[in-house]
Amino acid sequence: MDSPLNLHDYEVAAQAILSPMVYDFIAGGSCDEVTLRANRAGFDRWTIVPRVMRGIEGASTATQLLGHDLTSPIVVGPTSLHKLVCSEGELATARAAKAAGTIYAVSTASSVSIEEIAAEAGPWWFQLYIFKDRELTSNLVARAVTAGATAIVLTVDLARFGMREADRRNNFVLPDGIILANMRKPQAAEPGGRIDPSNLLPSSGGEFESALTWADLEWLVDLAGVPVIVKGILYPGDAVLAVEHGAAGIVVSNHGGRQLDSSISSIEALPPIAEATRSRVPILVDGGFRRGTDVLKALALGANAVMLGRPILWGLAVAGETGALHVLEHLASEFECDMLLAGAAAPEELGKHYLFRGE
Ligand code: FNR
Repeated sequence: MDSPLNLHDYEVAAQAILSPMVYDFIAGGSCDEVTLRANRAGFDRWTIVPRVMRGIEGASTATQLLGHDLTSPIVVGPTSLHKLVCSEGELATARAAKAAGTIYAVSTASSVSIEEIAAEAGPWWFQLYIFKDRELTSNLVARAVTAGATAIVLTVDLARFGMREADRRNNFVLPDGIILANMRKPQAAEPGGRIDPSNLLPSSGGEFESALTWADLEWLVDLAGVPVIVKGILYPGDAVLAVEHGAAGIVVSNHGGRQLDSSISSIEALPPIAEATRSRVPILVDGGFRRGTDVLKALALGANAVMLGRPILWGLAVAGETGALHVLEHLASEFECDMLLAGAAAPEELGKHYLFRGE
């Protein structure tokens, strides 16, 4: 294949490189993948109504998010186990996000430890799953904040793993040498680099909490000392409750169609959530963002920024740090061109008046 021209090309190129087991693990959604498809199809229900003759030579994609100046409103979302696709794993991702001038939300389930990632990263957030063992959880938060995370992204849509049938068909297993690096017991440093799989998870409490409540958010907000962003909100009333219980931001997300199948697409869920929270906190959204026009539509519908999941992994698979950086820069450049063609000079100018909702 020639050099990838867009984010779709990156997926095709990555599929040619990765094993079917790893490709399916990343690309797949749960059950019939209705939500996975809806995340993309949802964008087509909105069309753009461009403005002309506005004397704009070029649009600025720069924005601010929770105290950070970003080159564009495109943030690297949390995805697990980057060593599955690239030998440097999350170190390459951290360097790419830094070079792109954006934030990297590091997953709890990273394959490189947060301390090692922090040493390479620009501004970064730590994505947290709350464990049944709250001491383990608070230790992770303390480690992340000490290492320099400027916010915690609490993921709340994983009460149980969604039914990803491709992984079951493929008997998905972690390849040798790839571990959940933040979960390793400190005393389990393996002689000669050998990994004992029994040390991947702590002996107890290694399970995610399945019965979270808003009191857990308050607990985390008190504990963290940095802003807490709640990821995995689809219902406007939940967004309001999150803000009332201390959230400093919301990520509208259905986990990339990997959790409850047939749940609403992210772009459909966004407008009522933006309306209900009335700019009290920044709103991020993820799920299926592949084109500059997707970013434009999300911002016009009230989002402050979008997160990218799979495309970063495709970029890493194709060309490591360079590939992930190109994915970020390419999408930002599409967004710049689309804003210009729509007659908007900057993200703040975008609003619903730029969109038409067809049936
Ligand atoms: C994810 N996602 C995810 N989310 C999270 O909060 N913590 C995590 O560890 C992971 N891990 C993860 C692994 C893989 C392989 C994928 C594809 C996704 C969900 C992710 O943050 C995001 O919500 C979606 O991936 C966004 O959709 P797109 O951009 O992948 O379509």
